[in-house]
Amino acid sequence: MLQRTNLHLLFAFFIFCSFWTLHVVVSDPQTHLVSRFCNPYDALQVSNISMFDENRNATFRDIRNQISGQNKYFATAQQANGGNSVATLFQCRNYLTIADCVACFDSAAVKILSSCAAGSPGGFVVYDGCFLRYDASNSFFLETTPSINSVACGNQTVDGEVTAFDSTAQQALTNLQTTTPTTTGFFTATKMQVPNNNNQTIYAFAQCIGTITQNLCLSCLNAAYSNLQTCFPNSDGRAYANACFMRYSTTSFFPPNQTFHILQPLIKKGSNNKGAIIGVVGGVAFVLVLLALLAWIKRPKRHERPVPRGDISGVSKLKGPTIFSYGELKIATKSFSEENKLGEGGFGAVYKGTLKNGKVVAVKKLTLRQSKKVDEEFESEVKLISNVHHRNLIRLLGCCSKGDKRILIYEYMKNTSLDKFLFGKNRGSLNWKQRYEILLGTARGLAYLHEEFHVCIIHRDIKTNNILLDDDLQPRIADFGLARFLPDEKSHLSTKFAGTLGYTAPEYAIHGKLSEKADIYSYGVVVLEIISGQQSGKLNMHGDSEGAFLLQTAWKLYERGSHIELVDDTLDPNEYNTEEVKRIIEIGLLCTQASAELRPSMSEVIVLLQGNGLLENMRPTMPILIETN
Ligand SMILES: *[C@@H]1O[C@H](CO)[C@@H](O)[C@H](O)[C@H]1NC(C)=O
Ligand SMILES: *[C@@H]1O[C@H](CO)[C@@H](O)[C@H](O)[C@H]1NC(C)=O
Ligand SMILES: *[C@@H]1O[C@H](CO)[C@@H](O)[C@H](O)[C@H]1NC(C)=O
Ligand SMILES: *[C@@H]1O[C@H](CO)[C@@H](O)[C@H](O)[C@H]1NC(C)=O
Ligand SMILES: *[C@@H]1O[C@H](CO)[C@@H](O)[C@H](O)[C@H]1NC(C)=O
Repeated sequence: MLQRTNLHLLFAFFIFCSFWTLHVVVSDPQTHLVSRFCNPYDALQVSNISMFDENRNATFRDIRNQISGQNKYFATAQQANGGNSVATLFQCRNYLTIADCVACFDSAAVKILSSCAAGSPGGFVVYDGCFLRYDASNSFFLETTPSINSVACGNQTVDGEVTAFDSTAQQALTNLQTTTPTTTGFFTATKMQVPNNNNQTIYAFAQCIGTITQNLCLSCLNAAYSNLQTCFPNSDGRAYANACFMRYSTTSFFPPNQTFHILQPLIKKGSNNKGAIIGVVGGVAFVLVLLALLAWIKRPKRHERPVPRGDISGVSKLKGPTIFSYGELKIATKSFSEENKLGEGGFGAVYKGTLKNGKVVAVKKLTLRQSKKVDEEFESEVKLISNVHHRNLIRLLGCCSKGDKRILIYEYMKNTSLDKFLFGKNRGSLNWKQRYEILLGTARGLAYLHEEFHVCIIHRDIKTNNILLDDDLQPRIADFGLARFLPDEKSHLSTKFAGTLGYTAPEYAIHGKLSEKADIYSYGVVVLEIISGQQSGKLNMHGDSEGAFLLQTAWKLYERGSHIELVDDTLDPNEYNTEEVKRIIEIGLLCTQASAELRPSMSEVIVLLQGNGLLENMRPTMPILIETN
């Protein structure tokens, strides 16, 4: 009797030991349940329940062998005995060990078998650590319409300052979203410190399934990113979908050596801290071009209407533009001759024309997307913009349409555009006062479009070649109100940029999220260009031995408190006040912050430019920077 008890004890001890040993190997398979779902029985999909069940078991065995035998983090399997086909997909988070991955699989398989009754034609389990899904059809391996797309937010609000947390979390997630589709293995982990927030750190991870395209990965993460927005300011959130998973938390959930696939920006901690450090995976230029391409391919169709401000029923009562006859314009431009051609913009060619009364005008022949809807919208848009009157906006004098030709007639600016004065043939000819006037005038023109005209007009294409200069070198913004009529391939989102998004706000380029803040971002880039005389899209050698893009250079110098070094060396130092120039660079950086919410409005920018605002209280947070290495 006693012996038997001892034997039992020994046996129990042995079991305990093996269990314990197992736990040393299996550190944490992260089997916290995020979501699960089972389809109800459907005789059309499952004709023989036991056969279907057997097939499902077979795919599970197959997958388990693949992950444990071949050290895989992603596997699919299919079995179609007796026509009752089953397709199964499994993925675990790449930061787990293979032992944890297998443990997570085992747990998920048991969960599915216990919750999805025999004959359930489909189901899935999402754990923190892994994702298991099966279905009677394998179409979910490469699904274009997401069948699963949801979010699970934590229930604790973060400590400390919520705004700082939000903007850092947004940036971490944006980094993940942009990086993940370009990595081999489709996964990325990152860690970011929230500035001035008691050492708060955000950990984030994103992953796509291995059967989809880069493009689908990007669009899935795009949806996941949007879903996670609803979680802020909770301390953690998980977005799960058919093809991807994204998670953030203020508590670490992956080993510290797992952030290898990542942009690792450390945000500025205090005013006298050393610079932001950005580590990047190799081949960044390539990654970026790819990214640009992806963003460009998947960008939403631009059909948005202008955002109404108040009552817009009055629009139809507005005075329309003057109608010019085609013949008249043909004479004015010498049959649109090459010698009269002023240039070629995103919308088509621009010609210099001289009307019968001697007035010189700019005649813009548009290349538009062709459709009946475009025609109608175009007409009302032209009517609208012909009523925009502001001294910093180019006047639309009239229009002409003949057949499918659409021609707009604008004021002529013989000084052409700002880029010529900054980077082109007139480089170095603008003094400080003129530059300041251009900054301020451009801000006023934009503030009018955004905030003062009776509908809010988002320009979407603010850049130095869209800022024309009048005889007094005062700025006049051109091409407003037309961006949405651009043919898709001529949209300003060019595939050519590398290293920075150029003038385009990251949330617009990547998520297609458009607001006035996208213009404000572009304006911020223009500010930095005006001050530095450098082009934002060009790799510049500025102090560093390695090249850097303008926004990077500006941010790095700012971090060191030496942003005055950004000033164009063609400027006479006696002309400007160092503090004023520094303040304006800071305004540029405020406008280009990663978080659109944190960027000031255009009317606030005007106040800041005039030095009336308390800029001391506004410290720019980091822009989205990607560095070449
Ligand atoms: C279902 O398949 C099993 C074999 O797995 C077979 O023995 C059984 O007869 C089938 N049942 C029906 C209703 O066809
Ligand atoms: C499938 O596997 C489960 C769990 O191992 C088992 O209970 C069930 O009987 C199996 N079904 C078939 C048809 O083999
Ligand atoms: C928050 O969630 C945790 C589990 O994640 C739970 O234990 C806790 O009770 C929840 N707290 C509240 C206030 O709902
Ligand atoms: C902040 O966190 C880091 C690592 O997470 C740690 O090394 C450092 O000591 C912490 N600083 C403070 C002030 O808590
Ligand atoms: C991370 O560290 C663990 C042990 O600390 C090690 O087993 C693992 O290989 C490391 N992973 C990487 C990617 O360095």
